[in-house]
Amino acid sequence: MSEAIVTVKSIEQTNKYSKTIRFDWDAEAKPGQFIMVWCPGMDEIPLSLSSVDDEKSITFKVIGPDTEALASKSVGDKLRIRGPYGNGYDLSSKRILVVGGGIGIAPITPVLKCKDVDAVFAARDAGEVAYADPLGKEYCKNHWICTDDGSMGEHCNAVEMVKKVLAEHEYDEIIACGPEVMLFFLLKYLNEIGMKCQFSLERYMKCGAGVCGACMCDEHRVCKDGPVFTGEQINKMKDFGTGRRDACGTFVSYR
Ligand SMILES: Cc1cc2nc3c(=O)[nH]c(=O)nc-3n(C[C@H](O)[C@H](O)[C@H](O)COP(=O)(O)OP(=O)(O)OC[C@H]3O[C@@H](n4cnc5c(N)ncnc54)[C@H](O)[C@@H]3O)c2cc1C
Ligand code: FES
Repeated sequence: MSEAIVTVKSIEQTNKYSKTIRFDWDAEAKPGQFIMVWCPGMDEIPLSLSSVDDEKSITFKVIGPDTEALASKSVGDKLRIRGPYGNGYDLSSKRILVVGGGIGIAPITPVLKCKDVDAVFAARDAGEVAYADPLGKEYCKNHWICTDDGSMGEHCNAVEMVKKVLAEHEYDEIIACGPEVMLFFLLKYLNEIGMKCQFSLERYMKCGAGVCGACMCDEHRVCKDGPVFTGEQINKMKDFGTGRRDACGTFVSYR
């Protein structure tokens, strides 16, 4: 784990809603780990690595002031990064189906590159998911795309797509990253069929290194003990699918 000043090597529009910044950084990182990113004009934010080679990348959805500040960067600009943080995915299972929902496709991209896996890419529309199709074609034996509005792939949500895939293919484990509502209903289904899984969770993060307690989900520090947790661990978390702490540490219910 280290802190570094890196130079933006490229910045591209990945899809309708997100951008990818590439930079050289020779730190060792595992698929599923994240970094804390800062530059003048923004607060420091956590972003997963969408590439873990020596040329690393972050892929982020532009949704507020900090991601807007990052999106305005140009080639040659500097970023201060810390990390990599978190545990990353355990890729020891033989037959893995990865499931990425929305911007959750970005953190699972390194898994596709370092392990023979099949993938489900789910999004609300084609603008959000089209970039994943070439990834699936390049790295997966099988991949499936689904959209909420039917504008690309199957017209269904991620959980319905996983049900269809599991009706015809066998896997030992499901690895997923995406909105908590998707993970909540996916876990419910996987519990029903007794399927092993690991999900990457998101909570508000300040230190990113297990010190401040901002990211607690029950008794777990999501930044240090996670962000990847097994289905067994998540089944015991009362906060999962219920609510999360905001920047001030106040618990905010989803309902
Ligand atoms: C471990 C982890 C990995 C992440 N990886 C990615 C990724 O690869 N790509 C991506 O697009 N997004 C990722 N995120 C989410 C990303 O950190 C937020 O989208 C970003 O911080 C939004 O900041 P903003 O100022 O643009 O938006 P705001 O309007 O400030 O916030 C929008 C949303 O982002 C959340 N957010 C804001 N600041 C933080 C923070 N410090 N920690 C956690 N959540 C925050 C808010 O709670 C809110 O729900 C990740 C979050 C975590 C915890
Ligand atoms: S963000 Fe500080 S303990 Fe997790």
